[in-house]
Amino acid sequence: MDNIKLLENKLTTEQFCNLQKAVGFGRPNPIQTEKAIENSIYSVSISIGGEVIGMGRLVGDGARIFYIQDVCIAPKFQGKGIGKLVVQKLLAYIKNNSIENSTVTIGLMAAKGKEGFYEKLGFLIRPNEKLGNGMIMKIKI
Ligand SMILES: CC(C)(COP(=O)(O)OP(=O)(O)OC[C@H]1O[C@@H](n2cnc3c(N)ncnc32)[C@H](O)[C@@H]1OP(=O)(O)O)[C@@H](O)C(=O)NCCC(=O)NCCS
Repeated sequence: MDNIKLLENKLTTEQFCNLQKAVGFGRPNPIQTEKAIENSIYSVSISIGGEVIGMGRLVGDGARIFYIQDVCIAPKFQGKGIGKLVVQKLLAYIKNNSIENSTVTIGLMAAKGKEGFYEKLGFLIRPNEKLGNGMIMKIKI
């Protein structure tokens, strides 16, 4: 693809909100988003012709546990291997920035119907024979 650029730790609140909206995840609170980006361990954004069309980020403790969050590719650019590139870059960051001879756990919550995308990248679905369900709680503040 022409003019494709991978940017590290350059994701902005506006780009984040635009991408979330573009994939139908609603428009996030910008103040909350700014803090969330600031507190991320690492972010990747993909620009084509100067426009940011994809993103993903890592949160966690930076040592034992990493969570992949907010992997989004603008609809027009889906199905071209860009989502895979984003996740591979996030995984490379973890491999290159973790303590030697340690084991890290990488978690994520797949959106409905996106489990297969992450399975292809090596993730296991929960629950399985050994692991229980992933669980979440949302609190309205
Ligand atoms: C899910 C998403 C990130 C995938 O990104 P993408 O750029 O479209 O996917 P890619 O082209 O990189 O696909 C990589 C591989 O996963 C496969 N794949 C993509 N989406 C899939 C799905 N929903 N189910 C199963 N496999 C899928 C592709 O066929 C491809 O397979 P291949 O390597 O054998 O060719 C993208 O569709 C998206 O942003 N969706 C809306 C937002 C969203 O739901 N994000 C996930 C939040 S958890």
